[in-house]
Amino acid sequence: MTSKAFNHGGTENTKNLRDLCVSVVQKPAKRFDGIEISLIRQINALATPLSINLGIGEPNIEPNENLRQLAVEAAANGSWHYTPNPGNVQLRKLIAGDTGFEPNEVCVTAGTEEALFSIFQAYVDPGDEVLVPNPGFLSYATLARIAGATTVTYDLEPPDWRVGVDALREKITTRTKLIIVNSPSNPLGSVIDRDGLQAIADLGPLVVSDEVYNEIWYDEPPPSMLGLSGNVIVVGGMSKSHAMTGLRLGWAIAAEGVMKPIVTAHQYIATCASSFSQSLAESIFMHPEWNQAWLDSMRAQFRNQRDNALAAIERELEVAIPTPAGAFYAFVPVPACDTVTFAKTLATDAAVLVIPGVAFGSLGEGFIRISYAAKLDDIDRGIGQIGRWLRAAGR
Ligand SMILES: Cc1ncc(COP(=O)(O)O)c(C=O)c1O
Repeated sequence: MTSKAFNHGGTENTKNLRDLCVSVVQKPAKRFDGIEISLIRQINALATPLSINLGIGEPNIEPNENLRQLAVEAAANGSWHYTPNPGNVQLRKLIAGDTGFEPNEVCVTAGTEEALFSIFQAYVDPGDEVLVPNPGFLSYATLARIAGATTVTYDLEPPDWRVGVDALREKITTRTKLIIVNSPSNPLGSVIDRDGLQAIADLGPLVVSDEVYNEIWYDEPPPSMLGLSGNVIVVGGMSKSHAMTGLRLGWAIAAEGVMKPIVTAHQYIATCASSFSQSLAESIFMHPEWNQAWLDSMRAQFRNQRDNALAAIERELEVAIPTPAGAFYAFVPVPACDTVTFAKTLATDAAVLVIPGVAFGSLGEGFIRISYAAKLDDIDRGIGQIGRWLRAAGR
């Protein structure tokens, strides 16, 4: 569209001015310099109808009849209007449950990602440092960068990807604003034990504990950081637990004083989470028996897929990895020093999509992330194809 202001003269000078204005207007903000669509999306863009997708980060579960019925009722009877910025009070009460947190210490967000974005916008200034796990979920470093902060990584070391709390402590400076923790971990499937979490909570800076996978566990529920100290913010949501990735329902929970600026940031980002999704979430929590059965069946399905994936990895790739305690990812060492090229070649030559480990940080190089949120047959065939391809390549 050409504005009237640009249209009045038509001389060479106005044309030059117009070109200059267009180039200035269309220049993205500096805070997005160097920020691109993630490697995960780049790999997924190589998918063809014949590809086996083991790169995916969402549950291979569809809503059952009951869940669809709850959604129909939420759409028919729930409000379609704005809700209070932090969400409906009844839902906030249900999210807080028996944790001892009050509804005003919960903010319902448009997915966990928006909770993270709100926290970074509320707390992180240019020049601050944000401590993120390496390997770790790639959003953390990007959110730090958008806020103008420097990312400082702390190492999680193979084979069991433990956090060295002493090493983490040494990374803290006067500029450290946030420490990000993610347990169960994407991409590692590892879980941090309660003592480790308490030690991190006691370090001093604000801690953001991303617990979006906390319902996806195999032997025992992963410990939460909720309430471990006044400076902990827990984020989570229903994307993974209820296969509701598209409904964008997440939350942040923190002591009232810590929560206040997060709600303000959230107001200017999303106003409120979708009122439909909030009504549905409320309804799910109001049916605890149904919810328990859903979660049990979801865990049983992922356990089966995990066990199948581990067996196929051992058989076809001839490696044994620590058994993932949570989430639905296996982080697998491969004989390649450049796993981006490796994953792209697998996508085009073997028609299998996996995510190069380096997408999650420098310590991920030499690994690929295999998501076992996939049908058993796809897990078997996909990992089998990787094995055949490796053997054909003489590796
Ligand atoms: C560790 C981690 N945190 C947050 C998110 C974002 O989840 P949501 O769909 O709730 O925004 C993801 C999604 O893959 C994730 O893996």
